[in-house]
Amino acid sequence: MSKPTFYITTPIYYPSDNLHIGHTYCTVAADAMARFKRQTGYDVMFLTGTDEHGQKIEKKAADAGMMPQEYVDHIVDGIHKLWELMNISNDDFIRTTEPRHEKVVQKIFKQLYDQGDIYKGEYEGWYCTPCESFWLDRQLKDGKCPDCGRPVQKAKEESYFFRLSKYAPRLIEHIKTHPEFIQPVSRANEMLQNFLLPGLEDLAVSRTSFKWGIPVTFDDKHVIYVWIDALSNYITALGYGSEDDSKYQKYWPADIHLVGKEIIRFHTIIWPAMLMALGLPLPKQVYGHGWVIMDGGKMSKSKGNVVDPVMLAERYGVDALRYFLLRDMPLGQDSLFSNEILINRINADLANDLGNLLSRSLSMAEKYFGGIVPAPGEKNAEQDEPVLSLAAALPGKLEELMNGMRLADALTLIFEYTGALNKYIDVTMPWALAKDEANRTRLATVIYNLLEGLRIVGVALKCFLPDTAEKMRTQLNVSEEQFTWESIFSYGGMCPGEKLKKGAALFPRIDVKKELEELAELEAASKAKAQAADKPETLPIKPEITYDEFEKLDLRTAKVLAAEEVKKSDKLLKLTIQVGDNQRTIVSGIRPKYTAEQMVGKTIVIVANLKPAKIRGILSEGMILAVGDEGVDALLATDAPVESGICVH
Ligand code: MSP
Repeated sequence: MSKPTFYITTPIYYPSDNLHIGHTYCTVAADAMARFKRQTGYDVMFLTGTDEHGQKIEKKAADAGMMPQEYVDHIVDGIHKLWELMNISNDDFIRTTEPRHEKVVQKIFKQLYDQGDIYKGEYEGWYCTPCESFWLDRQLKDGKCPDCGRPVQKAKEESYFFRLSKYAPRLIEHIKTHPEFIQPVSRANEMLQNFLLPGLEDLAVSRTSFKWGIPVTFDDKHVIYVWIDALSNYITALGYGSEDDSKYQKYWPADIHLVGKEIIRFHTIIWPAMLMALGLPLPKQVYGHGWVIMDGGKMSKSKGNVVDPVMLAERYGVDALRYFLLRDMPLGQDSLFSNEILINRINADLANDLGNLLSRSLSMAEKYFGGIVPAPGEKNAEQDEPVLSLAAALPGKLEELMNGMRLADALTLIFEYTGALNKYIDVTMPWALAKDEANRTRLATVIYNLLEGLRIVGVALKCFLPDTAEKMRTQLNVSEEQFTWESIFSYGGMCPGEKLKKGAALFPRIDVKKELEELAELEAASKAKAQAADKPETLPIKPEITYDEFEKLDLRTAKVLAAEEVKKSDKLLKLTIQVGDNQRTIVSGIRPKYTAEQMVGKTIVIVANLKPAKIRGILSEGMILAVGDEGVDALLATDAPVESGICVH
């Protein structure tokens, strides 16, 4: 009989910067799920990859002085290395610049166009480049992107549109009748209330203002909108629409798309609507995880508060980092990262509870039984019962928790068992039993239960901490068959008479104070480096004008004769200026950069023919030219001995 299948995906990451522990968190969680499913008998397809098109990447590449492809190749290399380091067991890695993806996306776009689900129109709205999202006036929050809070740019261009609105009723119905579709449930309500029920607009799905994207085959001025391109990865990687679609046939629909909460909207609205239009089944579940947060905000490169997973993995070991991400950060909610929480977790759970348990148990087995697994003998129900019943319940409970994506709770459960085994040592006191030969068979039972407990813990930890589980298997010296998922459904997998192989400590204890100081120094150094490299973004150039239009501007030199602060304003100065033979007044927002005193005597440049306007009740006749994206960084002024009223061009 063929195995049941399980298809799990992470989002495909933007190769615009090195990935941080927020990205690592999602991939490690998906990896633990994929490993668990493989271990429990599923034929698993675990997909991750990179989302390589779009204006953001094009700009990053240009800033780095590279061609986009060259730029992404370099970053994707680093991502491969990171996943290798983190022991990620993905079955495939899709890049949206691969022909296997691009060709099929073009085909999908054409099909939707041919069947009337995509049509040509004109887009007018706002575009957030970092989020690659279009917004309407009413969707902006304080004039900024409602997702990330950054400035948006006006966008007006010819565009193809996807009839998203047509699919809204079916989508609402699907979400209402499939409570498992969007998890956690609270996210489903969010989608319904905030997006679906107020009504969907058709979606602009092509761009003409940049080139780095998949061209629309029948209109090559246009490139396909990145989200249409990116979301398709989940099926193009399976060979959908290609000559060999056997993987698509086998694994689609996906069991879980694991995604961060800010991109649930794309996965539960745009993606299912696309699939409906293509006549394909919808993924069974989209699970929206919370964010790794720091200093009160989402960890992100733009905030400069990112933590480098490579540095942490090199310092503490890959499994220590995996453990922390999975144990301390319950999937559904936001979780705080701090070095202190991380180090305390490693010390308490991994070095003390688990590491000590293994080394103490093996030391005692060595000391009392010559490093050979003893055959259990005398029982003591009162002492043995707590550990035996936990062992019996563990596999079933684990399966239940994992199937509900409760990875942190699953680890808690395993560590409750290690806690119980440590307590078992305190209660049974093997060192006291060893003093009297009459207790020999009781001592054998105690040591056996500890070793068998460690075997069960090792198997249970395999999907979370693969290297550690393997080290435990080596030290317990059991075969792979004695270390399978099925093997922990029955007690007694450790074979009496077999030799143990005590090895090095699993996790060395960390000196908290010293380590925190070192980390703080490292972070300060890397922040300083990032700030130095962080050039301000250049605002986009405004739409072209003709020479005749430019000629209409009358720019003149002007001499400031007098200046005073405008009452009840902390920005405005009222200037009396000389322009040739005339005097006039200009009100300008140049405080606090320039004081009234500083302005008197300056020769500045003004737009002399701007229609006068009243500002705070004062008639302002013209405008001063200044430098600065938002505020005023400097005035256009000259020290040269020029008269006022001279033309500037
Ligand atoms: N390219 C899109 C996804 C397309 S999927 C068809 C994208 N890429 S991303 O690189 O910006 O983010 C990828 C994933 O990383 C998202 O799920 C996002 O939520 C996650 N994370 C980014 N920062 C994070 C944290 N600080 N914490 C947890 N996850 C975070 O979005």
